[in-house]
Amino acid sequence: MAVKTVLRMGHIGLWQRAVEVEKPFNNALHLLIQDLIDTMIDCDGVGLAAPQIGILKRVVVFGVEKCDRYPDVEPIPRTILINPVISAVDELMEEDWEACLSVPGMRGQVPRYKTIRYSGYDETGAEISRIVEGFHARVVQHEVDHLDGIIYPLKITNLHNFGFTQEGFPESQPTRSD
Ligand code: NI
Repeated sequence: MAVKTVLRMGHIGLWQRAVEVEKPFNNALHLLIQDLIDTMIDCDGVGLAAPQIGILKRVVVFGVEKCDRYPDVEPIPRTILINPVISAVDELMEEDWEACLSVPGMRGQVPRYKTIRYSGYDETGAEISRIVEGFHARVVQHEVDHLDGIIYPLKITNLHNFGFTQEGFPESQPTRSD
């Protein structure tokens, strides 16, 4: 149980594929999950993937409550997702701003599937299966990309829409870090 250092873009660990977690889930996995949650909360992030703290296992955590600071953000239940699998429900995609704790101070517009189905396991080994859309779907796609060594700047289609948040372009909107 500890707040870990989040690796930043350029670290080789962020470009590698993480490996599946084998069942039954052991104590080392539960410690990893606690570290992920502690670190995500400390960084005020919406999500975090195990490779971001240097562990190449297919584990992500995410979730956000409704709050005054980001009134437009849809709440997402706090979720621990192990060995996640994603599929698009249809071909519809949309672009929106993303940020990442591994790319501090920056944000970019990324196309993502609007509606996805995702599945995996929680920390007890119980199956999770959900169909979600919008911000929730975006966060999950972003986090699961980390497990395949993909960071969001690789998916920006127009690099004019990538830059430092403090520059405020094209308008100053709050950007969530995940
Ligand atoms: Ni990220």
